[in-house]
Amino acid sequence: MTRRIKIFDTTLRDGEQVPGCQLNTVEKVEVAKQLEKLGADIIEAGFPVSSPGDFKSVSEISKAVRSPVICALTRAVKKDIEVAANSLQNAERKRIHTGIGTSDYHIKYKLESDHEEILKRAEEAVKYARKFTDDVEFYAEDAGRTSKEYLARVVETVINAGAGTVNIPDTTGYCLPSEYGEKVAYLVNNVPNIDKAIISTHCHNDLGMATANTLSGIANGAGQVEATVNGIGERAGNTALEEVVMAIKSHHLLDYETGIDTTQILKTSRLVSTLMRMPVQPNKAIVGRNAFAHSSGIHQDGVLKHRQNYEIIDPAEVGLKKSVIELTARSGRAALKHRLKQLGYSFEEEELDQVYSRFLDLADKKKSVGDEDLQILAGKGKVKEKPLLELVSLQVLSGKTTIPTATVQISFKGDVFTETAGGNGPIDASFNAVVNLVKRRVRLEEFLIQAITRGSDDTGKVHVQIEHKGDNYYGFSANTDIVTASVEAFIDAVAKIR
Ligand code: KIV
Ligand code: ZN
Repeated sequence: MTRRIKIFDTTLRDGEQVPGCQLNTVEKVEVAKQLEKLGADIIEAGFPVSSPGDFKSVSEISKAVRSPVICALTRAVKKDIEVAANSLQNAERKRIHTGIGTSDYHIKYKLESDHEEILKRAEEAVKYARKFTDDVEFYAEDAGRTSKEYLARVVETVINAGAGTVNIPDTTGYCLPSEYGEKVAYLVNNVPNIDKAIISTHCHNDLGMATANTLSGIANGAGQVEATVNGIGERAGNTALEEVVMAIKSHHLLDYETGIDTTQILKTSRLVSTLMRMPVQPNKAIVGRNAFAHSSGIHQDGVLKHRQNYEIIDPAEVGLKKSVIELTARSGRAALKHRLKQLGYSFEEEELDQVYSRFLDLADKKKSVGDEDLQILAGKGKVKEKPLLELVSLQVLSGKTTIPTATVQISFKGDVFTETAGGNGPIDASFNAVVNLVKRRVRLEEFLIQAITRGSDDTGKVHVQIEHKGDNYYGFSANTDIVTASVEAFIDAVAKIR
């Protein structure tokens, strides 16, 4: 029988702990509403006792989001539990997630206590939380490094005290998949009242094994998965929600299912990345910019012949319109022919050879060859290396007491156009000026600046991803002046809009 795995999203709690990723209440509510659309069963909205801001966010999410269970984290401390219960007052369905460290490290060096005392505190915390809601989850912090015999005693005790879910966190991301799975199996086989609770996985990614450990936990009996969008979280992050969900969906042999609407995955990933200002690495599984992009000739040829040759997931399943065939110096004739055909050109083999050879010349000089370039190539005219849109000049005014303003001059088909705009910084002002000039509605999806050698005189590499009418376009530039590099990358992306 198919086993329904609950998805517990902790992007707004464990994910938000990452330095620089903090969101305000309005942003958290926006993410929570998107998680509701995504189909998360439980949303961990925050740790209310930690700050008035967190308290407010949990209360506002409790009012705004109705379908998922709203959960608040606490330590095994009465005051934390009371504050969490208050923050959840307006929730349609509420859960208190309380717990304590159970490994020898935590008991000895963090809590300065002993095993019997910790059992007592765990039991009391769960009983106290049950006074406020019937839905209580207990976490045994650092369960990954807790002996299985002691963990089993803790789990039995908290289930007797009223916990309906028992969370087995691999807090330090230490376990191997087999080890984590065995831990879950041991609980299933040795805790007498385990049938009264759901086992939850909560894996960190310090050894890059969070997803594998989570799947191993499920295979051994866990019924709930804790995860974050894009795998964000403490240190190397948490289990990536999209990876577990798509692994379950793609492997039909595994008899599991989730309630996630996978077509919302990309939208959710982009929202979290944008609001948290946390770029997604291009090769990130499922949601990275290159996850569905094919650039080598052999792969492009294969994917054009039959998508499944090189794709295990239909991009539409995660909300991406189509995979991307990136035309670069490594592309083969098949990809070029395919794209030219889409643009309305067809060639005899011999003619195609000539276009292909001109294409390779151009591709050697450019990172990526766009449709405008192809049209010129196909028109058999001289290869025009000048881009369609080009930054002619840029002047920015910025500083501590100045309203950032940018004046941008762009050339388009030989004519030069000028525009001045303001913004919240020199780059924002420049982007606004470009948008006003080209009169296109674009949304900045990703903006990544990287220093090459890290010195202050370094060259900055800028990658930009924009969205226009549901399609994504990428731009790139490098310059020692990062504002100029940013504007050039932005123009590079805008110039690709068809
Ligand atoms: O990693 C962890 O142990 C946690 C708990 C607080 C659930 O995030
Ligand atoms: Zn955690």
